[in-house]
Amino acid sequence: MRVLGIETSCDECSAAVVVDSSVILSNVIATQIELHRPYQGVVPEIASRLHTEWIAQVVRSAIRQAGLGVEDIDAVAVTNRPGLLGSLLVGVNFAQAFAAARNIPLVGIDHIRAHLYASQIEHPLEYPYLGVLISGGHTIICKVNSYDDIDVLGTTIDDAIGEAFDKVAKHYKLGYPGGVVIDRLAKQGDPYAFLFTEPVLQKGSHPYDVSYSGLKTAVINQLEQFRNKNAPITAENIAASFQRVAVGLLVKRVRKALEDTGLKRLAAGGGVAANTLVRKELTAIEGIEIAFPSMKLCTDNGAMIAALGYQYLRDKNYDGYALNVSARVAAFKRSYP
Ligand code: KG4
Ligand code: ZN
Repeated sequence: MRVLGIETSCDECSAAVVVDSSVILSNVIATQIELHRPYQGVVPEIASRLHTEWIAQVVRSAIRQAGLGVEDIDAVAVTNRPGLLGSLLVGVNFAQAFAAARNIPLVGIDHIRAHLYASQIEHPLEYPYLGVLISGGHTIICKVNSYDDIDVLGTTIDDAIGEAFDKVAKHYKLGYPGGVVIDRLAKQGDPYAFLFTEPVLQKGSHPYDVSYSGLKTAVINQLEQFRNKNAPITAENIAASFQRVAVGLLVKRVRKALEDTGLKRLAAGGGVAANTLVRKELTAIEGIEIAFPSMKLCTDNGAMIAALGYQYLRDKNYDGYALNVSARVAAFKRSYP
C-alpha cells in the first residue's frame, strides 16, 4: 500500500510517500526555520500562513520524487493532533480534499505516537519496548505495547527537554533553533565548567518524571552561583554544562524505567533524539537493543506519519473525511510498574 503522509503540526511542512511502513519513496520537508528565526521561536500565525502557501507544492514534490502520479496513492495519513491548531488545519484540510477527491481512505495520526514509531521504519523492534519521546513540546518515557497502545510511565512536570534547550539558547543569543546550536557548541566546551544540580522531585512524585524549569532558571539566572572555580564563562562551557545535566537526568530515568520494567528494548524519537550526547549515553546502556530514527526522521516529517498511518490502515482503522483537529494530545494511560 502506498501511503501519502502529511505533517503540518508546527513549523515543518512535510509530505512523504511510504510503502507499507517500511520503504520510504520520498520524504519532502520544507522547513520554516529561516522565517521564524527573526522571532527566535515559532510564530503560530506565520506558520499556518506558510503551510497554506506551501502545502500543494510539497505534496506534489513528494509524489513526483516517489516516481508516482496522484492516481498511484492508495491512502492518506495526516497529523491531526497535537500541535498548533491553525497549522494542523492546513494539513488536515488538504488531506481531506485529496482523499475525498480520489475516494481513498484517510487516517488522522497522533504526532506523539508517530515520533515514537519513527525509529521502527528502519529498525523494527518487537513489542513491548520502552519508548523515549524527547521533542520541543514533549518529554515522555513510556511502555509501548503496540503502535497504538502506550502506557506513560513518566513525563515532564514543567518544560519539555527541547524547550529547555531552546530557551537557554535564546537567552544567551546562541542561535536558532537552540537544540542544534547547543549540541554543536557543547562539543567544544567543558561539561563541568558549571556544576548545575539535577532537580530533586518532591516526595511522592512519580519516579520517572523529569523537570527542566529549575535547570533552565539556574542556567539563565544563576550562572555565577554554579561556576566551578574560575572556569571561563563561554557559550561553549554553558552549552556543555547545561547539556550534561539535562541529558544526564533523562538517561537516569530511562535506566531506572528499564530496570524496573525489565524491558530489554528501547526506542527513542523526537528532535532531541538527534542530540549527540543523548545518542551516546543511551547507546552506552548495556544489555538492551536500541532503535534511533535516522537524523531526518528525528524531527518532524511526513514519513513517520505515513508509516504509522499504514499500521492503522492495515487494521482497517480509518477515520471518515470529516476528520477534526485537536491542539492537545488525547489522554494517555499512566501506569507504574
Ligand atoms: O520533534 P521536533 O521537530 O518538534 C516537536 O514535536 O516538538 O523537535 C524539535 C525540538 C526543538 O526543541 C529542537 O531544539 C530540538 O528538537 N532539537 C535538538 C537537536 N535537534 C533538534 N535538541 C538537542 N540536540 C539536537 N541535536
Ligand atoms: Zn514533533
